[in-house]
Amino acid sequence: MKARVFSGMQPTGNLHIGNYLGALRNWVKLQHDYECIFCIVDLHAITVYQPPAELREKIRQVAGLYLAAGIDPKITALTVQSSVPQHAELGWLLTCVTPLGWLERMTQFKAKAEAAETIGDGLLQYPVLMAADVLLYNAAVVPVGDDQRQHMELTRDIAERFNSLYGETFVVPQTSLPMVGARVMGLDDPTKKMSKSTAGSGHAIGLLDKPEEARKKIMRATTDSNPAVDFETMGPGVQNLLGIFQAFTDWSQDEMHRHFTGMRYGDLKKQVAEAVLAGLAPIQQRYAELMQDPGYLESILQEGRDRVTPTAAGIVKTVKERMGLYTIAP
Ligand code: TYM
Repeated sequence: MKARVFSGMQPTGNLHIGNYLGALRNWVKLQHDYECIFCIVDLHAITVYQPPAELREKIRQVAGLYLAAGIDPKITALTVQSSVPQHAELGWLLTCVTPLGWLERMTQFKAKAEAAETIGDGLLQYPVLMAADVLLYNAAVVPVGDDQRQHMELTRDIAERFNSLYGETFVVPQTSLPMVGARVMGLDDPTKKMSKSTAGSGHAIGLLDKPEEARKKIMRATTDSNPAVDFETMGPGVQNLLGIFQAFTDWSQDEMHRHFTGMRYGDLKKQVAEAVLAGLAPIQQRYAELMQDPGYLESILQEGRDRVTPTAAGIVKTVKERMGLYTIAP
């Protein structure tokens, strides 16, 4: 039996090349070696208010982008989190074994809490629901970008705590980060992670950006005061551009050094733009085709839900039994 992989994305904002290089592209690669479940985590999205019509549309968009990027629904289950109620159910059961201090320490929670006037309880519980997503399927491997590392450590801690309180129940999952592209930075400010929620037209390259729009953002990207590429002294902006190029082309470190050393920034940016556009073109083309048939997308999401539900239901049943909850015959 193949080991299981689980991962997900929030249907908020516009998916960008950070989401693609940090996660989605690796999901596509893992499909043949693992039994994969890729989820659109809409219950996570609503930890911050989302206009309902917009959220519904984003869920379809993310599903379309998963498929357009190469997720193959014949071998992989593509699901919407809220369509499998066991995610929320296991979320509660795990909340009850999670110390508050573990959640208050999460850096993403702290950052969001500082930025907002009032914080919903969902924001604090967010990583417990994420742990539930993964543990619900006893996933062995979780491919994510670098920013999810702390949440995955917590997931492991929750699994271990549950296992020690109630007996071996959960697989303790491994985090899988890509070698290149695990942390794509903002083009306008390379000290900040590229993010769906950061405003500013020069910040992120959306997977659905028009080619000219994407090119313009790259040509305007922040670099440093050097005149040309120097691998010894380059700043984070140049490093980020080179990282994006390398991730899209799969060039080796040697090839990168030989080709780019001494190159002027204008030329570097042109080449980065070409690599990005070449990577995005086939995704955008498949996306446009897929979106012409909404019935197809819907059927894939139904199939995904139906495929994973028996596993999810089985694990929740075991967890409830282990915890001593009363079971009434169906
Ligand atoms: P989300 O929606 O913020 O991001 C989706 C995926 O994209 C990765 N990512 C990046 N990678 C590289 N560079 C960046 N700038 C960048 N920005 C985002 C993220 O690491 C992630 O892999 N909490 C998760 C969603 C989630 C989840 C899960 C993931 C919910 N349940 C269970 C794995 C397993 C999140 O908000 O991802």
